[in-house]
Amino acid sequence: MSVYPVIISQMKFVHRDSLNYPFEERGLQFGDGVYEVIRIYSGQYYLLDEHVDRLFRSAEAIKIELTFTKEECREYLLELLKRNKMDVDGKVYLQVTRGSATRDHVFPADTPANIYAYVVKVPRPLGKLANGVGTITHPDVRWDYCYIKSLNLLPNVLAKQEAKENNCYEAILHKDGVVTECSSSNVYLVKDGKIYTHPSSKNILHGCVRMRIEQFAKDLNIPFIEEPFTIGGIEDADELFLSSSTSEVLPIVTVDDLTINGGTPGPITKKLQETYEKDAQITGAEPATSK
Ligand SMILES: Cc1ncc(COP(=O)(O)O)c(C=O)c1O
Repeated sequence: MSVYPVIISQMKFVHRDSLNYPFEERGLQFGDGVYEVIRIYSGQYYLLDEHVDRLFRSAEAIKIELTFTKEECREYLLELLKRNKMDVDGKVYLQVTRGSATRDHVFPADTPANIYAYVVKVPRPLGKLANGVGTITHPDVRWDYCYIKSLNLLPNVLAKQEAKENNCYEAILHKDGVVTECSSSNVYLVKDGKIYTHPSSKNILHGCVRMRIEQFAKDLNIPFIEEPFTIGGIEDADELFLSSSTSEVLPIVTVDDLTINGGTPGPITKKLQETYEKDAQITGAEPATSK
């Protein structure tokens, strides 16, 4: 995964090698910042407005003052792709922190936020989209403000690592048996033709793809029910899937020792995958569902 040469640093376009961070930086020392990951298909952003809106919500929630408007943010991000002549599938990573200052828990006075953004190539996970992935269950030990896309990802990192060590792709997080989301994605259960998922409360990240899936379900006349399901309820699931900007709509075929839908992606998941591909105007790739 190599970073394209032009990056944004402090709202300037510079070469990636010129980024130079001090030791005393709030993001590095406290995780005192927020971020976004935005999907790119064939050099075009998918759900740019939604991600920029969420960046502003996250920054406001932790009292970081942004010195640019949403419109300027979108313009900079579009220009970033142009300057890199980016025309393939990839993502932008964008981070804003409370800035560089002598280490002290208290917010520093008169310190501008640090912002950077860079672009990388990321192919679509076609094999996983077609065949589904395995998951583990894991306690959700995160804080009470999971709707903020904060840099503090240690519980997520530890859960994902445990999934990897069990040859799985994701960890399904639960609070006392109630499923919230996954370590880096939202999760859904299908039962009797209806989609169930945790309400968009403070306990989950309000995924941009989740927002689209809600709309796809409406358009397809599939009930989308914002009601949490439990780890026990997974045993009766007809289908299970997860979503994120890099995973798209990804079928889950095992949870711990349990096999879902005979170990294959189910019909509602496939329908949502097709709808996603149309919505994201994905061209030139074989449909995930036919691989
Ligand atoms: C914890 C968590 N939940 C959900 C998501 C999905 O969000 P989105 O659809 O905006 O990519 C992510 C994405 O990184 C995440 O980290």
